[in-house]
Amino acid sequence: MIIVSIETSCDETAVSIISTGGDFPHATYDIVGDALWSQIDVHKEYGGVFPALAKREHAATIVPMLEKAVTETGFETETYQLDESVRTQVTSLLEREPGLANQLIEFCETHGVPEIDLIAVTSGPGLEPALWVGVNFAKALALITDTKVVAVNHMEGHILASIFDAERDDQLSDINFPAISLLISGGHTELVLMKDWSNYQKIGQTRDDAVGEAYDKVARLIGIPYPGGPEVAKLAEEARSKNFPEYAELPSPMLHSDDFDFSFSGLKTAVRYAVADKELSHYDKAGLCRDFEDAVTRVLVKKTIKAITDHGAKTLIVGGGVSANHHIKRVMETQVFATDEDVTVYFPQPGLSTDNSIMIALAGHARLDSAMIPTSTDVIRADGNRSLS
Ligand code: KG4
Ligand code: ZN
Repeated sequence: MIIVSIETSCDETAVSIISTGGDFPHATYDIVGDALWSQIDVHKEYGGVFPALAKREHAATIVPMLEKAVTETGFETETYQLDESVRTQVTSLLEREPGLANQLIEFCETHGVPEIDLIAVTSGPGLEPALWVGVNFAKALALITDTKVVAVNHMEGHILASIFDAERDDQLSDINFPAISLLISGGHTELVLMKDWSNYQKIGQTRDDAVGEAYDKVARLIGIPYPGGPEVAKLAEEARSKNFPEYAELPSPMLHSDDFDFSFSGLKTAVRYAVADKELSHYDKAGLCRDFEDAVTRVLVKKTIKAITDHGAKTLIVGGGVSANHHIKRVMETQVFATDEDVTVYFPQPGLSTDNSIMIALAGHARLDSAMIPTSTDVIRADGNRSLS
């Protein structure tokens, strides 16, 4: 089947076209078209993602992304001559995004789209104004092409992206249950127990900041623009390889608490005090980033291993933007192996850790049975706080 997937939950506008063969979870996924536009430059001056701006950018770039993905497939397209009632419905669905309805209608009437079997769209969690652009766009495209829509949980997308194996025939890895999933991104830090496919139980989460958010805030404190996570990681690696001295003794909050929850705001505050009113040299900054990353890694690894041990897990799946971090990956793999060498650890392949629409197609395929033709009273809605369990 051909899946068109759409991601607009935060600051990436992404559209993919995936050709699947077989049933979830043993299907093959051939990525025939993939387009992603990052809005990072737009948000930089605000030091974080500005929701109203994100919404506007999604609306401005989603048709160009669809066009890029469709063109990349090289597939024959079908053009649509819309009757008045479909035109009216599409216009009313997209009335809050000026110009988008006309852009989409024109694209479908002139360029056209290949035959589609399913549209998968992120419905949450994320920034609600941004999510609505994707959800309404998906519904409009579904009306035009007479296709079913499936509302995807973004976090399920991150989990499946981490076990997507392009080297193994573009399939999902054949994982053993129970599995523990550690999701670390700009908006989330959570531990999830999976007893089977599509069966999620959140067992722990952050009580305040997400890990990625803490990285970005530390970056800001030392003058690195949003999103500073990758740059903080780079400086930390430099301090590690050149053995820079410790800059500050930082806490690993909730390291010894008897649950699976996290907290990173105290660590962020400790960093703020450590740099207050000081002129920092490059060595200071790199040392501080390393000290911060070590504190974060300690608590992530300890809680994850506790979750694996307590639940007898056979698999660990780490996903979300921060899973691109080499140090966290290295320490996690080594320490999980030292604890139980029979546990298999998965991190996403490069390019699939941060937000993308390939992961949304995977999660949409997993939820095929909840797909529906959108109607005016349907339940496909954006939900900024959508939870996995
Ligand atoms: O999953 P994602 O793309 O978006 C959300 O759903 O939040 O994650 C983005 C987050 C940002 O906070 C970014 O700074 C962080 O992931 N990040 C990293 C690294 N690469 C991205 N943090 C630490 N080390 C990295 N290498
Ligand atoms: Zn994400």
